[in-house]
Amino acid sequence: MNATQEHLREKLKVALSKAFGDDYSNTDPILVPASNPKFGDFQANMALSLAKKLGQKPRDIANQVVDNLDVSDICEKPEIAGPGFINLRLQTSYLEAQLNSIQKDERLGVPIAKQPKREVVDFSSPNIAKEMHVGHLRSTIIGDAIARILEFRGHDVIRLNHVGDWGTQFGMLITNLREVSPEALTTANALDIGDLVNFYKQAKKRFDEDEDFQEKSRNEVVKLQAGAEDTIHAWKLLCEQSRKEFQVIYDLLDIKVKERGESFYNPLLPEVVEDLDKAGLLESSDGAKVVFLEGFKNREGEPLPLIVQKSDGGYNYATTDLAALRYRIRQDEAKRLIYVTDAGQANHFAGVFQVANRANWIPEDVEIVHVPFGLVLGEDGKKLKTRSGETVRLRDLLDEAVSRCREDLETRLKEEEEREETEEFIANVAKVVGISAVKYADLSQNRTGNYKFSFDKMLALKGNTAPYMLYAYARTQSISRKADIDYDNLGENIKIMLKEEAELTLAKHILQLDEVIAEVEQELLPNRLCEYLYQLSEKFNQFFENCPVLKSEEPVKTSRLALCDLTARTLKLGLNSLGIEVLERM
Ligand code: ARG
Repeated sequence: MNATQEHLREKLKVALSKAFGDDYSNTDPILVPASNPKFGDFQANMALSLAKKLGQKPRDIANQVVDNLDVSDICEKPEIAGPGFINLRLQTSYLEAQLNSIQKDERLGVPIAKQPKREVVDFSSPNIAKEMHVGHLRSTIIGDAIARILEFRGHDVIRLNHVGDWGTQFGMLITNLREVSPEALTTANALDIGDLVNFYKQAKKRFDEDEDFQEKSRNEVVKLQAGAEDTIHAWKLLCEQSRKEFQVIYDLLDIKVKERGESFYNPLLPEVVEDLDKAGLLESSDGAKVVFLEGFKNREGEPLPLIVQKSDGGYNYATTDLAALRYRIRQDEAKRLIYVTDAGQANHFAGVFQVANRANWIPEDVEIVHVPFGLVLGEDGKKLKTRSGETVRLRDLLDEAVSRCREDLETRLKEEEEREETEEFIANVAKVVGISAVKYADLSQNRTGNYKFSFDKMLALKGNTAPYMLYAYARTQSISRKADIDYDNLGENIKIMLKEEAELTLAKHILQLDEVIAEVEQELLPNRLCEYLYQLSEKFNQFFENCPVLKSEEPVKTSRLALCDLTARTLKLGLNSLGIEVLERM
């Protein structure tokens, strides 16, 4: 809800209590956005829900509310419609004043949160020596967008990469490393074993086939847990190699993460189990230490356990998450913990959160949310695979998006004979459009559903796509170039005037940015912001078709230029908050 809505709500409350007494001042639906612009901008529909309580006709109630309602400062005269709806229409002069004021504001009227807080966003989080797959890509893109929006609202965001850098799989990886690359372990040189994913497959194969290798691997696990120097050295080499590969992707995507992998929490794990015991939650099941979950049953109807210590004494993914959760609350002092992973982990997190809750580890002022997302599917509706059936490498996927954009651009340049562009320009446009297309395609979907990965769709120039949005932005910039006008120098006292319907529609939309951002901050659904920006581009196109800008006389011309500028800045701010760069020309 933005300031305008809040203001109207307060006025309605006053009117209600004047008409019927304080008890009625909060009756919902006190204010909703009008479903159709014909009805104005907002509707107050509480007359219907009050009818029974007051034993009066809704229309009479609406009349009494309106008689006591003073919104003349920002609205036209309220109108009563149908059985008792109160229609409110904002005055044009009010909208103009709002626009004139955000026009001077770098944040375009989006306030800093009233109570900025520390928030942890746990996202990306691939596993060492394994493929960073499309699921991790979704987590990376969605998590980054959420983090950016929170940061823009002034929150102190810790962007945590909860890398899977610990576990028994390191036994076989280290054993394999000793055999294929013994020199790596003794020299100070960086490790070079090429593709880590193939290395992983090789190690796994040998582990499955060779008993001697298995024995050695188990031994390495024991040494790793005991902190033996040479084993830790080998483990570090493997992590370092993966880190470098992940970093290539983060650089391509322009995404910042702070690595704090699973291994970080190792020293804290025994205490987690002890404290669960002290809290009386721990039970034994087949030699393992577990907490039985409330409300979770297996197929046989038996209660499901969350295992926190295996029968061999080892800890697991859940124990680590319990330790991480405590650390983030106690040491990081975060007030909201956000976990961005695929929906397949919903039960894991529900279990972890429940146990933490029952152990009383979550103070009242701390909020913990799992932000799940669906699968990435190929165009055939099945799990995304290459033609030969392999998992798709992220690097290849991003490279392909960029190279397709490059081809498109080069074709266009051939058609436009007068245009010459440098290699630098071409490379940059291809990169920005390609990467943005992948990000935007992901973000514009409601994340809870599965989404089909289609280059053709995400690169289309029409529809809710990155190229469409980037063109809309570039168009606003070409207007100013054409007229040789610098939007920043339109003058101190620009007066935006709204005369045409298309101007009003565009203006009202621009003024909803604060509301949309606040909503995404709460609900953590970046697709809402995408939808808003998409509508903004459409409304801008309508305006541009119907309202001449450069051909108008002053003062209309400057007013319209200012609307172009405001649209451009809104688009840029919105796209940037999603992690998408804009282009001045493309
Ligand atoms: N490494 C995990 C995976 O690849 C994701 C970790 C998510 N974060 C967490 N705190 N569990 O599935």
